[in-house]
Amino acid sequence: MERRQGMTNQAQLPLLEVQDLKKWFPMSKGILQRQTVYVKAVDGVDIQVQPGETLGIVGESGSGKTTLGRCISRLYNPTGGQITMRTDGETLDVSALKGKELSAFRKRAQMIFQDPYSSLNPRMTILETVGEPLLVNHLAKGRELEERVTEMIVQVGLRVEHLRRYPHSFSGGQRQRVGIARAMVVNPRLVVADEPVSALDVSIQAQILNLLQDLQEKYELTYLFISHAMSVVRYVSDRIAVMYAGKLVELGPTQELLSEPKHPYTEALLASVPKLSQRKRGMRLVSPGEPPDLTNLPEGCVFVPRCKYSTDQCEEQAPQLRLVGTNTYISCHRAELLTLRGISGV
Ligand SMILES: Nc1ncnc2c1ncn2[C@@H]1O[C@H](COP(=O)(O)OP(=O)(O)OP(=O)(O)O)[C@@H](O)[C@H]1O
Ligand code: SF4
Ligand SMILES: [Mg+2]
Repeated sequence: MERRQGMTNQAQLPLLEVQDLKKWFPMSKGILQRQTVYVKAVDGVDIQVQPGETLGIVGESGSGKTTLGRCISRLYNPTGGQITMRTDGETLDVSALKGKELSAFRKRAQMIFQDPYSSLNPRMTILETVGEPLLVNHLAKGRELEERVTEMIVQVGLRVEHLRRYPHSFSGGQRQRVGIARAMVVNPRLVVADEPVSALDVSIQAQILNLLQDLQEKYELTYLFISHAMSVVRYVSDRIAVMYAGKLVELGPTQELLSEPKHPYTEALLASVPKLSQRKRGMRLVSPGEPPDLTNLPEGCVFVPRCKYSTDQCEEQAPQLRLVGTNTYISCHRAELLTLRGISGV
């Protein structure tokens, strides 16, 4: 399967713009639990996503991918920063939306979740599950609702006779198709897919990825595609953003990032990508060394404790995300000096 090129228009204004986004979770600490520390799950993220683009987001477990996706979809209220979405001739200050405006935004930004087993209500039929967002948002009811749901489930590769069945009678792949239909039925502009194929057998993963690409073309969708598996992200993404400890460390076009990474953490992640023969379902990305403590990050570069290229400057001064070359953003003092190893044959 190949990424279908030519869908994005870099000259357009971004559909999504995220500036200095933060999500800190308070946590009690100490014997009497009186001290409050913050888990800095997302800590100063900047991204722009063009209409029709797929931006892949990778990083090892705990790097903040899900939290970022949930803030952008406003399932979480961000601690700080700005999220702007431009669509249908409007510019929305997503981070500030409340009440009715927030409900209206939910139709435009939908999430697809990892686990098709737990994300569907076992007591609701497929018609009820996929129709619920139409009902809740007052978009359709009765016969019209059934027609729209039927059209949608056929689009995702299910059949009309599935409408009155319950989730337990479906396979994992079919359940994920239901989850996708539920997200797409309200005609969103942005879809945040959080590990949409990670719980599925490898043989089913390609079918679901193809379906997501077909729907993207048909409905001109913009995707944020979150995954711990570089092997999946590389096939669907126009560009890839690499997260470490709640921050973006590298963001660039897929092929360049894979073949010529410029951040030491990206290099370490690529070195841990399993070869085709070793690939197993659910294999996690890990780079050597201890994962960071998000309540107590280093003063300088967050990657210092695991970086084999670090210098005194890295200990003292935090690098900022900056443009290196024409279209790659890197947060590393030494980006121009290092020659790092990528994946060959991309
Ligand atoms: N509701 C919460 N309360 C407190 N801490 C949280 C909460 N949600 C996430 N975290 C913490 O924030 C950090 C980032 O979590 P997040 O789920 O965003 O990571 P992730 O990159 O999606 O990881 P994974 O690949 O395992 O899904 C983790 O340390 C996690 O424990
Ligand atoms: S700034 Fe220094 S420690 Fe951080 S990634 Fe670059 S070389 Fe490594
Ligand atoms: Mg996650």
